[in-house]
Amino acid sequence: MHIADLPKPFFILAPMDDVTDTVFRQIVASTAAPELCFTEFVNVDGLQSPGRSKLLKKLRFVESEQGLVAQLWGLKPDNFQAIADQIASGELAEELGLPAGHNFAGIDLNMGCPAKSEVQNGACSALIKQENRQQAGDIIAATRAGAAGRLPVSVKTRLGFNEVDMTWFEFLLAQDLPMLTVHGRTRKEMSKVPARWELIGKVAELRRQLAPQTLLVGNGDVMNSLHGEQLAARYGLDGIMIGRGVFHDPYAFAVHSPWEGVPQAERIELYRRHVELFAATWQQGERNIKTLNKFCKVYIQGFDGAKELREQLMAAENVAELIRILTAQ
Ligand SMILES: Cc1cc2nc3c(=O)[nH]c(=O)nc-3n(C[C@H](O)[C@H](O)[C@H](O)COP(=O)(O)O)c2cc1C
Repeated sequence: MHIADLPKPFFILAPMDDVTDTVFRQIVASTAAPELCFTEFVNVDGLQSPGRSKLLKKLRFVESEQGLVAQLWGLKPDNFQAIADQIASGELAEELGLPAGHNFAGIDLNMGCPAKSEVQNGACSALIKQENRQQAGDIIAATRAGAAGRLPVSVKTRLGFNEVDMTWFEFLLAQDLPMLTVHGRTRKEMSKVPARWELIGKVAELRRQLAPQTLLVGNGDVMNSLHGEQLAARYGLDGIMIGRGVFHDPYAFAVHSPWEGVPQAERIELYRRHVELFAATWQQGERNIKTLNKFCKVYIQGFDGAKELREQLMAAENVAELIRILTAQ
């Protein structure tokens, strides 16, 4: 999917670290696919260090995944440039085992993660701060130089650092970005307050004046595509990004989600497919089996005995045991 060919509004599966790996993205795509997906964020400085091989799992994808955007974070512009070049040239996809011609659809820069460890170093949402604006500009320029016109370079950010900061958007909208995603909270707000869509609407107004060519994507607390369509129409947005909504409804991107009526057997079957794909994908133990527990409640809910079944599944020590329990239902 080329960014220029996206429908209005288009939908994106949000990047969620340790959640939206290739396995979960494939499951979501099999129920109701968004137009774009983002990878988990991956550190460019780590990718350019001896620790590279450990980080590559965050970028793994398969041939059937179309419209996948690689999300990067880090500090050193040189490393952004080198990784953007490896991505845009197809070299990195080849290293991941993809056949020639299969590549990422874009590169996104994380300028919104609020985690202390990232912010202390001046990365992610710390780039929103006025004193780091030069650094943010250098990172955008370096990534763009690495991509060299072969892939679009977009940004995902928040409304501000401690306070809502419209100068941040004036700055970003002067960067000629193809796409900008705005999570409707400041860094200080973490996830503690409801997303402020009226402020995302204000950014959309600014976009109309300063950069009508930049696609604007709203993000925060969207439950499903119907909800997203309403918000896009109300606030004049091109796209909607949904993250945690898929925890409540794996069919969140369907025009009319059938999830409420999906019977117990199909819910169990969907989780079984997730577990089997997990086992087939992460054969070298790259991901701990216990990471599956965060998905258990996505599927195993909404029927009598779901809680007891979840308890049994979460206590399982290996994939074989999980499959045995799921198949016995
Ligand atoms: C577990 C988890 C991990 C996340 N990891 C990332 C990430 O790697 N990169 C990023 O830009 N945002 C990340 N986010 C933020 C989401 O992409 C999204 O902006 C946020 O959850 C709000 O959208 P939602 O209400 O639709 O979930 C993460 C959120 C969660 C809950």
